[in-house]
Amino acid sequence: MTVPRDQLMEKIVALCKRRGFVYPSSEIYGGLAAFYDYGPYGTTLRRTIRNLWWRSMVELRDDVVGLESSIIMNPQVWVASGHVGGFSDPLVQCLGECKERWRADQLADMHRCPKCGGPLSEPRQFNLMFKTYVGPVEDSAAVAYLRPETAQGMFVDFKNIVNSVRVRVPFGIAQQGRSFRNEITVQNFIFRVRELEQMEMEFFVRPGTDDEWHAYWVKERLRWFAEVLGVDASHLRARPHDKDELSHYSKATSDLEYDFPFGWGEVEGVANRTDFDLRAHQEHSHEDLTYLDPETNERYLPYVIEPALGVERTMIVLLLEAYDEEDVRGETRVVLRFHRNVAPVQAAVMPLSKKQELIAPAREVLGLLKPLYRTEYDQTGGNIGRRYRRQDEIGTPFCITVDFDTLNDRAVTIRERDSMEQERVPIAGLVERLRERFA
Ligand code: GAP
Repeated sequence: MTVPRDQLMEKIVALCKRRGFVYPSSEIYGGLAAFYDYGPYGTTLRRTIRNLWWRSMVELRDDVVGLESSIIMNPQVWVASGHVGGFSDPLVQCLGECKERWRADQLADMHRCPKCGGPLSEPRQFNLMFKTYVGPVEDSAAVAYLRPETAQGMFVDFKNIVNSVRVRVPFGIAQQGRSFRNEITVQNFIFRVRELEQMEMEFFVRPGTDDEWHAYWVKERLRWFAEVLGVDASHLRARPHDKDELSHYSKATSDLEYDFPFGWGEVEGVANRTDFDLRAHQEHSHEDLTYLDPETNERYLPYVIEPALGVERTMIVLLLEAYDEEDVRGETRVVLRFHRNVAPVQAAVMPLSKKQELIAPAREVLGLLKPLYRTEYDQTGGNIGRRYRRQDEIGTPFCITVDFDTLNDRAVTIRERDSMEQERVPIAGLVERLRERFA
């Protein structure tokens, strides 16, 4: 059953709340716009996304190392990077009834409020960085910022890393962590949030090889979405920025865009940042940030290719890819057809009833699967069909049911999410059979 595109986001938002993926933050106090909490399945999904990214970008490579830099850094970092001067959006305010604020560059008509039709103020630049104070005195000397991107950590620690671990250009530094942006307009659920989780990698290369590396990373990142997360390749495209769209630091950027119900939108940016950042930090800090090539004895500031994405947009992509409804014997079955790599629960183990004699074999089966898969144990009893439907809604590929026959034949039933087909398997062969089915 094809779900109409204009209803998809609404259905996903409802499912995320109902099944413990995403809640509005501090909801009992009325929430806070564009801040969210992630429930048990949302938390697992986010961790899984992060782990799969880290595995591909760091662990399976020998040319990328990791970093965790602090969220609050010396404010000079943001002066040098251009964020204090330039990380802003043009803001206009409705001077009519509703007093709503808008991003001027997103309005079709710059003179009329899209909500109430009232006149709009002249645009003024609004800096998106959140400010705070370090220490007990709230004066201008103590002002600091919550980082708006994780990337600057990699640039300011570049020298530390080159001097302390064995890395040679070309190499990358990867980081995952929270970033904060006081976005003016927020919409489309977690597509644009004010507290986000970024996954960024700065790949340092010899100037002159940057175009080649840029093309490499665009291709590699598209491969990751398709092969590792199971995203349909036809729903993704790489869109090179026009010259007038480029960020102040970029020579070339390709956005990896997804075909969202509200139109094509950026999920990841792959930018050629040139030596902009290292040069800026070298000038502001007066530290030599050049790299000495040990083979050629040449000294230079490396160029940087940066693939950067957010966990939240990746989550929406996975939910949109997975969401489906179908008619089963006159009832609507809602199912998340998550790829096996990303499903928050990969195997659910359930005794058919709460009767004591089924608990021991069910726990035995759980013990076999726990070290291998993300599992859930459901001992609630009750209608098995309804329990399967619950697992369908959170996207569990396999349910393993222990019933009264198990006590005699030492076998269990594997029920598959997409086909709903069931297969009887001896407990002794269960791990092997699941391994085949997950392959
Ligand atoms: N260091 C480069 C950088 O931060 P960006 O295009 O501003 O570039 C990179 O952000 C990625 O971070 C985006 O592609 C998007 O996935 C995510 N992102 C940025 N702002 C976001 C927001 N307000 N809400 C959710 N995700 C956001």
